[in-house]
Amino acid sequence: MDRQSRIVILTGAGISAESGVPTFRGPDGLWEGHRVEDVATPEAFARNPALVQAFYDARRARLADVAPNAAHIALGRLDSAWPGELLIVTQNVDDLHERGGALRLVHMHGELLSAWCTACDTRHRWQGPLGSFPPCPACGAPQLRPDIVWFGEMPYAMNRILRSLARCDLFVAIGTSGQVYPAAGFVETAREAGARTLELNLDPSAMSARFHESRLGRAGTLVPALVDELLA
Ligand code: APR
Repeated sequence: MDRQSRIVILTGAGISAESGVPTFRGPDGLWEGHRVEDVATPEAFARNPALVQAFYDARRARLADVAPNAAHIALGRLDSAWPGELLIVTQNVDDLHERGGALRLVHMHGELLSAWCTACDTRHRWQGPLGSFPPCPACGAPQLRPDIVWFGEMPYAMNRILRSLARCDLFVAIGTSGQVYPAAGFVETAREAGARTLELNLDPSAMSARFHESRLGRAGTLVPALVDELLA
């Protein structure tokens, strides 16, 4: 890669695992004890808003106890030092990339630290709980929901992401199981654009065979090594 190369990096739950944020697909198929359909769909929220708010309130509160790891920090270093185009696309809803120094970043699945008012369609930085249905700071309606893209909803920033993928020279996926679309299909889009594709993951993922190269190991080790390589 020369220093004007255009890079897109996709991250998933695996990059935050070493910070102590649990991944989604544990061996028991449950997500922190819940079936995904019970907490991460618009239908679940309509059926049992208190359960869904409590689930995300707990995850939001836990952000205060976790810190970015060597992988987040290495990507922050890459972002500040890379002169070419770069886009970090995360499926994660934590704020560890920001705290690791990443600026050229999009949260395609939303953010725990944002609340979305479904009455007036405004978004607000949010640190506290939503379970008591506090009033929206803009319109006062008690209709704030987690600003999270649930199953069946459209991921954010897709135009920007697809534009970057269509012109990238290198696509890297880090810590994602490759089971959730559209993110799982990004490797294909990047290949069609002629990009080199590289996967960094603890285990082989559902998409490993589609990458030119897969490196197996912990993100906290592999990502700093990759960033050193790119910046050498
Ligand atoms: N380093 C690198 N990879 C790791 C590490 C680690 N320390 N620990 C776990 N992994 C890998 C796992 O092997 C797995 O392949 O990270 C991957 C995590 O996969 P998932 O839990 O399925 O997470 P992700 O791919 O981000 O899920 C995608 O699914 O539920 C939805 O919206 C949610 O954004 C999420 C999406």
